[in-house]
Order: sequence, then C-alpha cells, then structure tokens
Amino acid sequence: MGTRIIGTGSCLPKTVVTNDDLAKIMDTSDEWISSRTGIRERHLAKEETTTSMSVEAARRAIENVGVTAQEIDLIIVGTVSADHVTPACACEVQAEIGAYRAVAFDINAACSGFMFALNIANAYLQTGAYRTALIIGAETLSKIMDWSDRSTCVLFGDGAGAAVVRADEREGLLAFDQGTDGVKGRVLACQNRSNNNPLVKTPTELQYVHMDGQEVYRFAVTQVPASLQKTIEAAGLAVGDIDYFALHQANLRILQAVAKRLKVPEDRFPISLDHCGNISAASVPILLDEMNRKGLLKPGMKIALSGFGGGLTWASAVFQW
Ligand code: COA
Repeated sequence: MGTRIIGTGSCLPKTVVTNDDLAKIMDTSDEWISSRTGIRERHLAKEETTTSMSVEAARRAIENVGVTAQEIDLIIVGTVSADHVTPACACEVQAEIGAYRAVAFDINAACSGFMFALNIANAYLQTGAYRTALIIGAETLSKIMDWSDRSTCVLFGDGAGAAVVRADEREGLLAFDQGTDGVKGRVLACQNRSNNNPLVKTPTELQYVHMDGQEVYRFAVTQVPASLQKTIEAAGLAVGDIDYFALHQANLRILQAVAKRLKVPEDRFPISLDHCGNISAASVPILLDEMNRKGLLKPGMKIALSGFGGGLTWASAVFQW
C-alpha cells in the first residue's frame, strides 16, 4: 500500500509588504534583503489568523481533489504560531470544515513541521488505522517576530499550505528521513509565553524569535543535502532521477548551495520565497501547491521534499507523483 499526495491548497494573507515598504519603517533596503536572501516581498496577516488561513488552504486542497470533509480521518497541523495554546489549530480546522470524523492535533517541528506531519500521517496510513489525512503547515510568524531586529524580521512571512494524503494501491512516498539536533536548538529560538506568576518574571526580550543566522545557514547547507542524498538512495534512485526539489523556502543562497552540493541544476529547485519569504512550516506545502496549480507535477515524476529549521530539525521525503 502506498501513501500518495492527492490534492494541495494554500492561502496567503491579502496584504503584501515589499522590501521597499520595510525600508520605510526600519534601516534596511531592497538591495540588502534581495541580494542576501532572494526575498522581494512577503504577505503579512492583518485580519487573517493561523486558523483562518489553515481553513482556507484546507478547503482548497479538498476541492482540488474532490474528497468530502467526511472522508478525512486525520488532521495534523504543523505550526509554531497557533492562535491558541488550546484548542489546537487542527481542532478548529476540523470544526470549520466539518470533518467531524477526523482525529486532529498540532505538532511543533518549526520549519520541518509540514514534513514531520506528513511522515506521521504516513505511519498512521501504513498501519491501516486511517485512509485519508489532511496535512497543513500554517504560520502567523509576524506575531512572533521582533520587529526591531532587522536581521531576522525581514526574512519571514505568513501563510498556510495543505495537502490531502491518502493510502492508495499506487506508489507514492518512496522514502523519508527525519532528524533532530536539540543540542544546537538555541541558534533559532522563540520563547513566546512569559511566566508571570508571583515568583517569576520572564524577561520580555525572550518572547520573540531570535536567530544566529550564520549558524543556521551552516546547519542548512550541510544537513539538507546529506538528508536528501540519504532519502534518494533509500528510494533506490540517483540524484539525477529527481525531477523537482521542493525545499523549505528559507533563503535563495541556501537553495543554491544545496543544488551545488548535489550537483543539480538550480532550475530543478522551484521557488516561492521571492514573493512569500520564509513561512516556516507553511513553506513546503505552499510551494507544492504553486507547482501543482502551474501544472508542473506530472504523474510518475519523482519529487524530493525537504524541511529544515528550528529544533534543530530536518526531514526529507521522495515521492512518486
Ligand atoms: N538590512 C540591512 N542591513 C542588515 C540587515 C538588514 N535587514 N540585517 C543585518 N544587517 C547588517 C548587519 O547589522 C551587519 O552589519 P555590520 O557588518 O555593520 O555589523 C551586516 O548587515 C551583515 O550582517 P550579518 O548578520 O553578518 O549578515 P549575513 O551575511 O550573515 O546575512 C542572513 C544574514 C540572515 C541573511 C544569513 O545569515 C542567513 O541567510 N542565514 C540563514 C537564516 C535562515 O534561513 N533562517 C531560517 C532557517 S529555517
């Protein structure tokens, strides 16, 4: 029995903020941001929430494949920026789309969140426990950014992406790899809830994302190609057999470095970061949805996916589309 991605959907907030817009409110420039990252603009949430974008992405994914909400057995949302501590975003999605049969929960694996959720769903589907899963990556990162830290806030955006995943007789997921390095976790961290009990006062500067950009860069350009190589080999394929590499959209330079290490032309790495920025767990499913809607994904193609970031975590998968 295979695990196939059968439908995709995504949702970006209406408001677009360009690099020039940011340059009006902080000491930065389009030249600095675009030359170091490839990012030109990002969507930032005003009235949208992590749940509302998840619901919209989920509806589009369901419409894309023509399943009904009642057929969904499992909903997993990967997010670090859910609207509430509880109920989980996945529970709210379940209620909003009317998927009343589905078991629903969130997971936190930062920028690898969608990939971890996909691999968890695969494990459930392969036991036969469930047949159809809705996997979502969704973030409102703008609410956990320190907007006075120009080296970090310019990189991120808001949005959600979703995929319907189903146990199927045809092959889909061929191999996956996941990993965690908690020892280095503090290089990309966010303590977003302070403890204000009578005995403790948490310093407010810990409440937003802080990042050692160069350490994260070094991690990404070594771990991601290694994980992809391992997954492609486990799938019984060579790097040259992969039609597209749909990677977490952190930084164009990271994608270029991965392409170089794998000796793969850069045009096999589609990008959405130019107009989305880094949307953590939502990056991979939004990119996948854009590729799907552009008609890039043809039956039988081999697609490598990879997410990497906070934790530190990473996860790769090779699919036959
Ligand atoms: N606009 C203008 N100047 C900026 C700036 C901004 N938005 N942010 C930082 N700078 C300045 C710094 O203050 C520094 O100035 P100085 O030399 O006078 O001190 C200079 O630019 C270089 O800063 P530095 O942090 O060394 O830049 P860098 O070349 O390492 O690039 C990143 C920074 C963040 C683009 C890069 O480290 C990176 O891409 N890291 C990976 C981050 C990532 O992808 N994280 C998410 C992974 S999931």
